[in-house]
Amino acid sequence: MTAILKLNQQRLYEQAKALQSQNDVIVVVKNDAYNFGMERAFTAFFQAGIKSYATTNLSEAIWLRKQDKEIMILLLDPSTEFNLLKNYNITLTVPNLTFYNKYKAQLKGIKVQLVYKNLLNRFGFDHSEEMLQVFKENYVDITGVWTHFAFADDLTEPKYEIEKNSWLTVLNQLKDYIKNLEYVHAQNSASYTREGLLEGHTHIRPGATAYGALPYFDKIPTSLPAQTIEVSASVKDIVRLKKGQSAGYSAAFVAEKDTSIAICDIGYGNGIMKNRAKHDVLINGKLYPIVVLMMSHLMVEVDEQVNIEDTVILYNDQLRLDEFAYKGVGAISEQMASLNRHTFNLIEIPIN
Ligand SMILES: Cc1ncc(COP(=O)(O)O)c(C=O)c1O
Repeated sequence: MTAILKLNQQRLYEQAKALQSQNDVIVVVKNDAYNFGMERAFTAFFQAGIKSYATTNLSEAIWLRKQDKEIMILLLDPSTEFNLLKNYNITLTVPNLTFYNKYKAQLKGIKVQLVYKNLLNRFGFDHSEEMLQVFKENYVDITGVWTHFAFADDLTEPKYEIEKNSWLTVLNQLKDYIKNLEYVHAQNSASYTREGLLEGHTHIRPGATAYGALPYFDKIPTSLPAQTIEVSASVKDIVRLKKGQSAGYSAAFVAEKDTSIAICDIGYGNGIMKNRAKHDVLINGKLYPIVVLMMSHLMVEVDEQVNIEDTVILYNDQLRLDEFAYKGVGAISEQMASLNRHTFNLIEIPIN
C-alpha cells in the first residue's frame, strides 16, 4: 500500500453550492484547481451552478473554455497571447497603464478587466486616475474591475482595513463607469468570511473556502466547511528503541526512554511539509507525534496500541488544513499545492 489521498468531489460540490447560493462566485481554479485536479473540481463547481472561473494559467483557461461556451473565464495574470485570448473568449486582466498603452490595439475584440494594485503590489494600476483614463478612452471592452487583498487572512493585521478602504475609494472614484459592469470583485475566502459581500461588488472570488477550508481559524467555530481532502498512510513496521538509541539520518531522533517508533509509508516525497511534521498524526483515533520526516517515510513515536498495517492519518475532518494553517504550517493553498498527487493512491468520492 502506498499513501492515500482521498478527494471528496461530493463535498466540493456541496460547498460550492452553498457558496453560490449566497452570492455569485468567481471560483479560483489556478494551479490545477488548488491541486484538487481541474477536471474533478470543474465538474463539481459547474454542477453547483458556478458560472465564473479564474486562473493564472492560459492553458488552464483554454481547457475551461473547451468545457463550456458560456462560462466567464478570467485570466488573472497578463498575457500577450492575444489571438488565443480572442479565439477562446478569455477575459484578460490588464495589469497596468503601461501594458494598456502598449497593447491597446491588440486588445480590441478581447474582454478585459482592470486590476488595482493596492498593498499586494503584484500587478495592478497604481491609481484610480489611471483606471479612469482607460474607461474614458472607451476603446476596449471592459467587463470588470478587481483587486486582491494582501492582509485579509491575518485578523491581527490592521492593514486589511487600509487596503479595503483604499479599494472602496477607488470604486467610488470610478462609480460613473462601473455601475453597469458585470464583474466588480475583490474578496478572497478570508475577506468574504469576515464581512460578507462588500457593497458594490457583484461576485466573491474564493479559493480556500470553495475547497472546504476555513480561511482563518481564530477560534474553533461552531460550524466548519467539510474538508474535501484526506491524507493517510499505513504503519509498515514498528521499531523498538532502547533509551539513547537513535533513528533516522544523522540520529534525527534520539530516544529519551525505551520507546516504539512506527515506520509509516509517506514522507516529503509525497509533499508532506516540514512544518506539518511538527504536529501529530492520528492512529486508531489517538494522536501521536511525528519524530522524523524522510522522503518516503515518517517515523512516529507510538505506544503498544499501534500495530503494523494500522492507518496513519495526516489530514481529515479532525486534522484540518485550516487549523494547521493557523498553527503556522503554511497557508491552506500551500498545504494543498504541496501534495504530490501522482505519488498517492487516489481515492475519489464522486458526486452522488
Ligand atoms: C487573485 C486571487 N484571487 C483570489 C484568490 C483566492 O484566495 P483564497 O484561497 O485565500 O480564497 C487567490 C489565491 O491566491 C488569488 O491569487
